[in-house]
Amino acid sequence: MKLISGPMATISHPAFRILIEKFGGCDEYFTEMINAGTLLTGGQFEKYYIDPAPVPEKVVWQLTGHDAEHMEKAAQVLCKLPGLGLDINMGCSAPDIYRYGAGIAWMLKPLSETEEMVKRVGRVVEEWNKSAGLEMKKRFSVKLRLGDDNFTDDGFFSFCDMLLANGVELLTLHPRTKKEKLTRPARYFYCQKLCERYPDMPVYLNGNVKDENSLKNALATAPGVKGVMISRACVQKPWIFRQLKNERGPFSVNMKQLAFDYISDIEKYQPPEFWKTRLQRFFTYFCDNFKFAHYAQTQFLNAKDNDDLRTRIEEFFSKCPEEEEKTFCKI
Ligand SMILES: Cc1cc2nc3c(=O)[nH]c(=O)nc-3n(C[C@H](O)[C@H](O)[C@H](O)COP(=O)(O)O)c2cc1C
Repeated sequence: MKLISGPMATISHPAFRILIEKFGGCDEYFTEMINAGTLLTGGQFEKYYIDPAPVPEKVVWQLTGHDAEHMEKAAQVLCKLPGLGLDINMGCSAPDIYRYGAGIAWMLKPLSETEEMVKRVGRVVEEWNKSAGLEMKKRFSVKLRLGDDNFTDDGFFSFCDMLLANGVELLTLHPRTKKEKLTRPARYFYCQKLCERYPDMPVYLNGNVKDENSLKNALATAPGVKGVMISRACVQKPWIFRQLKNERGPFSVNMKQLAFDYISDIEKYQPPEFWKTRLQRFFTYFCDNFKFAHYAQTQFLNAKDNDDLRTRIEEFFSKCPEEEEKTFCKI
């Protein structure tokens, strides 16, 4: 069974993959969603979004957008990059995304409109795969939710039938509806229903897997899935894949060094305009490792720049020296 690092806007970039790789990595890394329109107009930041470092062969490019033409053309650009595949974001339910017609909006539009977009992107991938060598082949996948709050099983499964009929080779299901918050239990049995309906297609499960127990619980309900995607928990615990694989024994992590190295990698792989938001988002989750998580968050998130952040990190660990070196084993 595969373990996958999920797509997270402002987080799933090279610096984050480098961090996870330090602990042995995972099987696949979905990128943060890449906006089709902005990619095509060649915005000044696009080169940062399409950097596959440090493991190009494990990267899955996630595409978002609101119209078929942009999605098709952006798919042509992404196919030419190294990487394992191309994924369409149909799961994001953040209001600014779906109101713009992207993310989960594709599950709510007239089926024919969504089918047209999927067909066009699917053809791009198919054409690319015909002309590219075996090692350059791209997998075409979709990450989705269950749909709107009044979704029906029939509606959901016929939507998935449409995706498969248009070349989609893998589905990642985050089994919640559009409005269901991340605190609501995920309905893993829908992942299992997908496995039973499409025995030849791999299904990845996503939602609330954060340790061995939650992984076992998810797999008990959906034993047929071929992969489990973890998003938030791998930001808090970039070593989680190592713990779940349990290949090696206990290991220790110097939290201060990890934080300093992460800041340096952000500076190396992200434009200065992004440093603050990227670091704030990362430390929001990472600080949950500390006993005084809220105190650490307040200290780190209020830093005025990276030098100030480094000073605040130094101060935090001198006040809480017991937090600096942590030992982890199987969870
Ligand atoms: C900060 C953040 C950014 C996210 N960005 C994306 C995104 O770009 N594309 C996407 O499909 N899902 C995105 N998601 C959703 C996650 O990939 C995942 O589906 C959700 O967090 C549930 O999984 P988890 O419980 O493992 O975190 C994001 C979630 C978070 C917390």
